Order: sequence, then C-alpha cells, then structure tokens
Amino acid sequence: MRYIPEYFEFQNPTKIIAGNQALSSLPSEVQKLGVQKPLVITDQGIVKFGLLDKVKSALGNSKSLLDLVFDKVPPDSSIDIVNEATRLYKSNGCDGIIAIGGGSVIDTAKGINIMISEGTDNLLNLRGHDRLTKPHKPLIVIPTTSGTGSEVTLVAVVANPQTHEKMLFTSPFLQPALTVLDPEMTVSLPAHLTAATAMDAFTHALEAFSCLQKNPFSDSYAQVAIELVAENILKAVKNGQDKEARYRLALAGTAAGVAFSNSMVGAVHGIGHTVGAISHVHHGMAMAILLPHVMKYNIDQMADRYAPVWNWIFPEADGSHNETNEQKTLKVIQWIHELNLKLHQLTGMPNDLEKAGVKREQLHEIAHQSLNDGAMIANPKEIDENDAFNILNDAFKI
Ligand SMILES: [Fe+2]
Repeated sequence: MRYIPEYFEFQNPTKIIAGNQALSSLPSEVQKLGVQKPLVITDQGIVKFGLLDKVKSALGNSKSLLDLVFDKVPPDSSIDIVNEATRLYKSNGCDGIIAIGGGSVIDTAKGINIMISEGTDNLLNLRGHDRLTKPHKPLIVIPTTSGTGSEVTLVAVVANPQTHEKMLFTSPFLQPALTVLDPEMTVSLPAHLTAATAMDAFTHALEAFSCLQKNPFSDSYAQVAIELVAENILKAVKNGQDKEARYRLALAGTAAGVAFSNSMVGAVHGIGHTVGAISHVHHGMAMAILLPHVMKYNIDQMADRYAPVWNWIFPEADGSHNETNEQKTLKVIQWIHELNLKLHQLTGMPNDLEKAGVKREQLHEIAHQSLNDGAMIANPKEIDENDAFNILNDAFKI
C-alpha cells in the first residue's frame, strides 16, 4: 500500500513554461508579472557561449528587456557578489530579476531578492529555515543546466568567503515566479556537465522518493524525473544536439526539484555536500558516485521504497513478480554502477572518489563533518560516523 504521512504540505507556485520556442513567451509573461525593468543575472560563460544572445534573439522587439546585465557570478555564488548586484538593482530602480544560468546564477538571484524584498543590508541575518517574511519581487529563471532544480525550489545557497561556509536559506518566498525550460538553452552544455547535472536530478528524485519526509505528490514528481533521466541521460551525453533528450532532461531536473523541495533529500546529499566542501568535487559528480553506496547501506530497511524504481528504469522487463524488493533494489544499484561506468568512459566523469580527487586521508574528516548536514536527518536509516566512513570507503575506489 502506498505510504502517506499523517500530515504534509506541498507547494509549487512557480509557473513552468516548457518546450521548443518556450523563450518566445517571455515578453508576455514578464508583462503579466508587471515587470518593466528587470536586472539580468548571469555569468561570463553564458555570455561567451552566446546563450544571452539566444535569449535576446528569441525576444525580438522586446530584447531591450535584457539591457541591464550583471554577468559576474562565479561558479559558487558569494555574499560579496550578491551585495554588488543588489547595488546595481537599486541604483537602476529595477522591479524584477531574470536569472539566466545554472545553480550559482539562480542562487545569486535569490540572494539579491532576499536583500531587496526584505529590505536588509546583511544577508547573514536571514540565513536558515523559514526566516523570510515577505513575498519577493518577481524572479524569472531560464536554466542552462538540467539538474539543480533551483528554478523551482525554496532553497538558496550562498557562500560566505570570510568563513568558507555555504549559507543555506529556505523559504517558500524563494520559489521563483516563472521558469522557462527551452531545450535551446541546454544544447551546448558539455557532455561531462550534462552527465553530472542529470545525475544530480536523478539523486534528488530518488532521495525525495525514499526519504522520511516523502508524500504522495512529491512521489509523483520524483517518478517522472527518474523515468526521464533513465531514458535520456545517455542520449543527451552522446549527442548534445538531441533536443528531444535535452527537453526531457530539463523536465526531469525541474520535476525532481519540485519533488525534493516538497519532501527532502538524504545521506547522498548529506555526505556529498561535505565531499564538495572538503575535497571540492563537483556536486553532481559526488551524487553519482555516492548514490549506489548509500542505497546499499539503506537497503536492509528501505528496499520497499527503492523497489518501484526498478519498474520505472526497466519498464519493459518481465519477471518482476518473482523478485523480492531487495533483489529489485540490487538491480537498480547495479544499473547505477553501470551507468556511472558508461558516463566515465564517454565523458571522463569520475566514477569513484579517488578519480574525483578525494584523498584517502580526508575520508574521516568528511565522515565526521557530514553528520552536521541537515539532509542526514531525512535519510531513511540512521547513520553514524562509522557508517558514513564505510560508505565513503566503499565509494573511494571501484
Ligand atoms: Fe543535489
């Protein structure tokens, strides 16, 4: 019988426009939101690879909407960048934000929106869970990767360069007003980043579906995301110009974002965040490497939550009636290992922590610090430092 919690909440206020030519709807949507002078937030890679120009050409006569551009967002959004862009927003009397980019760009835009909408000059005062108090200015997101889900989530992560911390903000006010998913915006994403971001989306969905805070609505979004990643990740990696695969991966990333934003993630993210912080491994790559090992750790208590995934990944397969939930879960784990190996062979993406640059002597520190990560409490099986170390040790060298 389907698991339904005694109480849960579900919210997705973000309007989603998706498909080929979706960008052409932007002028009328911006108008509906009452935005006349948006600040565009992006990074120099987006400008250099012509993605800003792609949006401009899709806007035709309305391209002046993109006249005011802040393009200095670094790979990890930081409080200093948020402050600098906020000054630009204020000095130009802007009334909304258009974010064009990946997770760091979107998180920067959310950080600016906190500063403006809350009327604060210090972002630090509002970090944490549910500290924001007012509806925000319209935030329009045009993602250029398919994975973080930040285009629909209630989360923003902004780095504090003074303390080397990643500050977390969560609030329903952070959910963007509009997201535009146009495959034209992801066709030039390199193969290794296509692979890593898609595995991040897959992990969001799988953890949302199995974690302690799951609910039937987040489950539905998670299922869509898992099916779409499984069907399309190798197609998009092998041929970046495959717009159908790109479109489907974009939908997967967003669906997975809605799923985990309304449930939670788990130990793959808890340990993976710490692998990123200590060993500077790309987030999606850390997810891909750790996912099968965390599932193996959870399997004795959670096989019934993992087993449905088998049917979504292998919709044509026979014999499911004869297999136990544990056997199905082991097949899913094996499929992920094989997928990681293919992605490694096709793109060079590391499929173990050693190849990702983690040092064996860092494993104890990662295990220790990962217990402080908020995602750990939603993992379906309790996890201590020794367990976390064993997971890391298993993932160290394949
Ligand atoms: Fe993630």
